[in-house]
Amino acid sequence: LDNPVNLYDFQTHARARLDPQVLAYLEGGALDEVTLHENEQAFLRKRLRPRVLRDVSTPDLTSTVLGRSIAVPVGIAPTAQHHLFHADAELAAARAAASAGIPFVGSTMSSISLEEIAQAGGLRWMQLYIQQDRVLTEKLVQRAVAAGYKALVVTVDTPVLGRRERDLRLGSPRQTYANLDDISAEGETLADAAKRLIDPRITWDDIDWLRSTTSLPFVLKGIMTGADASLAVEHGAAAVWVSNHGGRQLDRLPATIDMVAEVVDALAGRAEVYVDGGVRRGLDVAIGLALGARCVFLGRPILYALTCDGERGVAAALRIIEAELANAMALLGAPRVADLERSMVV
Ligand code: GLV
Repeated sequence: LDNPVNLYDFQTHARARLDPQVLAYLEGGALDEVTLHENEQAFLRKRLRPRVLRDVSTPDLTSTVLGRSIAVPVGIAPTAQHHLFHADAELAAARAAASAGIPFVGSTMSSISLEEIAQAGGLRWMQLYIQQDRVLTEKLVQRAVAAGYKALVVTVDTPVLGRRERDLRLGSPRQTYANLDDISAEGETLADAAKRLIDPRITWDDIDWLRSTTSLPFVLKGIMTGADASLAVEHGAAAVWVSNHGGRQLDRLPATIDMVAEVVDALAGRAEVYVDGGVRRGLDVAIGLALGARCVFLGRPILYALTCDGERGVAAALRIIEAELANAMALLGAPRVADLERSMVV
């Protein structure tokens, strides 16, 4: 891919290269895919109210998440099975994140083990499903701690898998799950693995249990209301991640960006707020930050870039997002991240 100018360039290129079944798995959403499209559309409907004459000569994009410095308030969201997209799998994306100084969130369903991913260095968090087998769940937590992961990201929007009709038609790809070697030897579809591994009985009590097993801070990912955001904090969450799982779980949910303000207001500073879903521009990142998110995460765009050129592709995509964000902040009159304000977005 020569001279990519924006993230859509990676998407176009990757679409032409990927096997139809893998592309369906990557791009699909649940049912009518209303939420899938709404995530992107809601960003495009936002309009901005810039401030002028504010000396934007030295943009400062640095910030922190859970007390750790990051170069740009952008992160790589957990996505499953990077082997489907590039031979270097998660190591490529994790290395690109480490070089860019941003957080990488490894998936429970990764192609390579969390210990192999840890070789990338950098700030890494571990995404976790509370599995039917609690011993295995606890073992994963201990492995994450030992491998230097700094937070657990517990996905709470997937008690059962959403009905993804593209996958139902083509069949989702059969894969092995390196983190779960002891129970999943030969290939299995994500849908089958999910049925076995994800526990539909989990409640807030299980969050309390998880908390009792570790001193790592935890983030609850997949919260879409202020009410659940408040409960998350009452149950010890250090951060709430507004997500609808890229439109892959419950359809007819609003866009994530449209729920950020409600969650930020409900938390009133008691926990950090993150958001993912439909982010395609540094300008989208600026909007998320202005509405009160502390970090904005990318999912599918990373997989398009990974498909195009492995670590180099992801690094190039991250450079574009950073350049677009710096440009947006300058034109909004916000030289520092903290200068981005809710009043700038309508
Ligand atoms: C996994 O969580 C997926 O959405 O495919």
